[in-house]
Amino acid sequence: MSELRVAVCTADEPDRAEALALYSAVGWTAYTESPEVLVRALAGSHRVVAARRGGRLVGLARSVSDGTTVVYLQDVLVHPDEQRRGVGRLLLAELLAGYPGVRQRVLLTDDEDRQRAFYEDLGFAEVHDHTPPLRSFVRFD
Ligand SMILES: CC(C)(COP(=O)(O)OP(=O)(O)OC[C@H]1O[C@@H](n2cnc3c(N)ncnc32)[C@H](O)[C@@H]1OP(=O)(O)O)[C@@H](O)C(=O)NCCC(=O)NCCS
Repeated sequence: MSELRVAVCTADEPDRAEALALYSAVGWTAYTESPEVLVRALAGSHRVVAARRGGRLVGLARSVSDGTTVVYLQDVLVHPDEQRRGVGRLLLAELLAGYPGVRQRVLLTDDEDRQRAFYEDLGFAEVHDHTPPLRSFVRFD
């Protein structure tokens, strides 16, 4: 198996076709039905990290942040062929390496056991499990 490489993306990567292929592989149709939205979302992200095996894009993570007080993790995805091999863990480590000293690390994700297991493994707690107690609010329009 070729070597896995996880690194911060340059301005011209990932290209549109490979990003669409990866988002499509995990079934995220909200992005793949609107490719221009995906392209703008990637371009407007604070930090984008890609995992490549033999050049092929197999995972991606991106963030929205002020770079100082808060970072929102938005999209952590690993191609199904590559899941449970530590790629997601490496992606988050590389993404968060860009935020030393940033205390508040937050995200929204699907309500499935695998996401809970993944984020808890990486030291995150669900808001209702946090001490001291916190509230989170969201509004989708
Ligand atoms: C969630 C996701 C990013 C995890 O990526 P991954 O590369 O498979 O995760 P890793 O191999 O780095 O797993 C790290 C740890 O998380 C936990 N974990 C990950 N996936 C898990 C699963 N399906 N079931 C149980 N635990 C899981 C395990 O503790 C694992 O460590 P271990 O393999 O040594 O037991 C990947 O499953 C994915 O892309 N899913 C579809 C998109 C998605 O839901 N993204 C998250 C929301 S933004």
